[in-house]
Amino acid sequence: AASHPAHEFCAAGGDAGCGDGGDGTRILIKGGTVVNAHRAEEADVYIEDGVVVAVRPNIPVGDDNVRVIDATGKYVMPGGIDPHTHLAMEFMGTVTIDDFFSGHAAALAGGTTMHIDFVIPVNGNLTAGLESYKQKAANAAMDYGFHMAITKWNDEVAREMEVMVKEHGINSFKFFMAYKGSLMVTDDLLLQGLRKCKSLGALAMVHAENGDAVVEGQQRMIDLGITGPEGHALSRPPILEGEATARAIRLATFINTPLYVVHVMSVDAMEEIAKAKREGQRVIGEPVVSGLVLDDSWLWDPDFIVASKYVMSPPIREAGHGKALQAALSSGILQLVGTDHCTFNSTQKAFGSDDFRKIPNGVNGLEERMHIIWDSMVETGKISVTDYVRVTSTECARIFNIYPQKGAVLEGSDADIIILNPERSFVMGAHTHHSRSNTNVYEGRKGKGMVELTISRGRVVWEDGVLNITPGSGRYIRMAPFGYVFDGIEKSDAAYRASLRAPVQRGKAAA
Ligand code: URP
Ligand code: ZN
Ligand code: ZN
Ligand code: ZN
Repeated sequence: AASHPAHEFCAAGGDAGCGDGGDGTRILIKGGTVVNAHRAEEADVYIEDGVVVAVRPNIPVGDDNVRVIDATGKYVMPGGIDPHTHLAMEFMGTVTIDDFFSGHAAALAGGTTMHIDFVIPVNGNLTAGLESYKQKAANAAMDYGFHMAITKWNDEVAREMEVMVKEHGINSFKFFMAYKGSLMVTDDLLLQGLRKCKSLGALAMVHAENGDAVVEGQQRMIDLGITGPEGHALSRPPILEGEATARAIRLATFINTPLYVVHVMSVDAMEEIAKAKREGQRVIGEPVVSGLVLDDSWLWDPDFIVASKYVMSPPIREAGHGKALQAALSSGILQLVGTDHCTFNSTQKAFGSDDFRKIPNGVNGLEERMHIIWDSMVETGKISVTDYVRVTSTECARIFNIYPQKGAVLEGSDADIIILNPERSFVMGAHTHHSRSNTNVYEGRKGKGMVELTISRGRVVWEDGVLNITPGSGRYIRMAPFGYVFDGIEKSDAAYRASLRAPVQRGKAAA
């Protein structure tokens, strides 16, 4: 796609497959409450060619070629951005059932207009991993970005990290401290990786569980004859998540680089993040929807199909953890909400019917996230409408350095917009969702607030319960390094070096 230099993954055909919104579509959204993270206001929104052109009260209709949408009594907000998904991922001997098309269908129907997926290297090779994910994303129907996992360490990997950041628009790398024998890294690798991330201005992310102890915990359950899905939660208790979170935070502090902790599932992990923040460290905590609103009681359900769908890592915890995580989210200890959407159908989950260690780990959420957070946190008064936008969209865009192109309804932003009707209610379940999975961990869940319309880069893609999407229209979003979380790091490095060279000053009160 020579005509679109920024669109690395455009279909070779050029404009037709590019879907970059330049088709002249014009939309005027009238009479709604426009919500950004910094404020909510009564205003109209005018969109042209995939971009927001104006946001102000009383924009005149004028032209017949403009579609006018009445948003009276409704909220007009930036589409959701999910920082954590696994579409078409090869994992635990199988492949997640949602690919970039069905995953995007689910996302758009639920008011999410962008996500960041995790590229998994092929035998440790990053370039091969990216190649494979480009192909997986060929049928994308909305915008997406990539994080990349680091599973092995050598000079080649270090060089490839630089290439990923400088040439391919990847600005974050994930280190798995669990999944021993497949994705897990050692502390030695984590240290090298943190140092490399820092030099590249890339954000280090961790899956924080002590993978060695998990293996011991699993054997303990098997020895006790506990082979069902409940064994999954019993084998990897919150202390193992707390330990790894604390360890990752301390190593990141030692290197003096920011850290992003994915899927914070327990009070134990959350308290480590809170403590680090109190000490002035740059740590970002991401709870996921399942951890915020579900509890582990389902894992004891006598029906394996029901119990196994709740198996994910770190596990969904006992009732109480979710409430504490919600409070941490509303008070800023945790900053943004993901899903860890990683779906397997009941046939795939049945691989572990006689041994919980073989149940593919992962739950759905891409379609449900925006509705559940609205219903459980805005409807209950735990967070404001502006904070809703911050935790579901803006903060993700800021952290991964794509704000205000994404994460805002502002002049010049991409027209990724949702219209939410706070008076309507929803019911969730596998019979109505757009994921390919035949199960849903939110089966039967009811609540208030409905995304009635989704606009993806200037096109109405979800309206009145109907999707209108095209495979291949999704665009790869490049993310530049040295986002705001890196701002000032070099100053604290300089202060640290100065303190080492002036030992005589130690312990004396500053002048
Ligand atoms: O159970 C989970 N979380 N599956 C996806 C892989 C990961 O750890 O994020
Ligand atoms: Zn293009
Ligand atoms: Zn993980
Ligand atoms: Zn994940």
